[in-house]
Amino acid sequence: MKHTVTLIAGEGIGPEIAAAARRVIDASGVEITWEEVSARAEVERRGGGMMRDEAVASVRKNRYALKGPMATPIAEGPPSINVGLRKALDLYANLRPVKNIPFVPSRFENVDLVVVRENTEDLYSGLEHVIVPGVVESLKIITEKASTRIGKFAFDYARQHGRKKVAVVHKANIMKLSDGLFLNSVRKVATAYPEIELREVIVDNLCMQLVMRPEQFEVLVLPNLYGDVVSDLAAGLVGGLGVVPSGNLGDEAALFEAVHGTAPDIAGKGIANPTALLLSGVMMLDHMGEVAAARRIDSAVFRVYRERKWVTPDVGGKATTNEFAAAVIDAMK
Ligand code: NAI
Repeated sequence: MKHTVTLIAGEGIGPEIAAAARRVIDASGVEITWEEVSARAEVERRGGGMMRDEAVASVRKNRYALKGPMATPIAEGPPSINVGLRKALDLYANLRPVKNIPFVPSRFENVDLVVVRENTEDLYSGLEHVIVPGVVESLKIITEKASTRIGKFAFDYARQHGRKKVAVVHKANIMKLSDGLFLNSVRKVATAYPEIELREVIVDNLCMQLVMRPEQFEVLVLPNLYGDVVSDLAAGLVGGLGVVPSGNLGDEAALFEAVHGTAPDIAGKGIANPTALLLSGVMMLDHMGEVAAARRIDSAVFRVYRERKWVTPDVGGKATTNEFAAAVIDAMK
């Protein structure tokens, strides 16, 4: 079947890794027409506006997008385009499977968990203001609707993928109302899935458990902020940001991207690791039902990591981005 996919190459190392991922996906046997769009509006480059409506319209039309990282200024400037895209397209679930990749060095061996992060509200609502100089208020928005929706997503995911345990992560001992609402909403959802065990974990304890015995977790469901922090922690359990994929899913569209940022320190050097973006592309292929092409890429990536000759410097090799991509394409033949 033919597909049209929106490609947002992104910034920094984005264009380099997007080109590499696209070459590999094109060589996997799947028929994709790429619609390349830029997500940053010209006006913003001059210090004003936001993301381009064209990017949102393209993803809405094609339903699938592969996206490279985009920069966000810290503690100043316009809001994040990454967050803007997720909000505009109502991509309410951020899904990050965290699993050991064969032959990628990591401290643990049996990690196979999935982080389901609520993507639209919580402290990421961007509602901040100065009350009086020296005092700032930042609003944490939690709704029953979004909490129930993400809880249902997590349990449906668990059911579809044969997972037996979902852990809901919160700090409702302190934030009794907001995290309490999140927790209670997920508890309610859980009653419709009697075959799946619900575990309730406070976020600080979760962090300790994860770095001691990560194999005890299968599916984690978290509000936005804890989800953001915990998913990077989880990435660190299996080899770091360069190898972990993610998908932002909604009812109408899905956008797949690497977890890492624009890596300004190595941009333009041709040595960025495209694995995370490529594996995000594999997640996309699975979603589209292109399972054969997805497995072909998976096993080629594992082979390249096993041989180690063509891996990039961040994972201990010497190869360039393009050499890695060429080796994966070779391994698929
Ligand atoms: P970063 O992920 O860009 O870089 C952290 C470190 O990891 C750097 O040393 C970098 O060289 C390395 N690294 C990251 N990806 C790599 C890859 N594929 N291959 C090899 N090495 C890699 O995080 P940082 O520096 O905090 O953020 C830079 C910019 O990226 C910021 O403007 C931030 O807002 C943005 N960002 C965008 C994201 C997105 O578009 N989804 C996600 C995270 C950050």
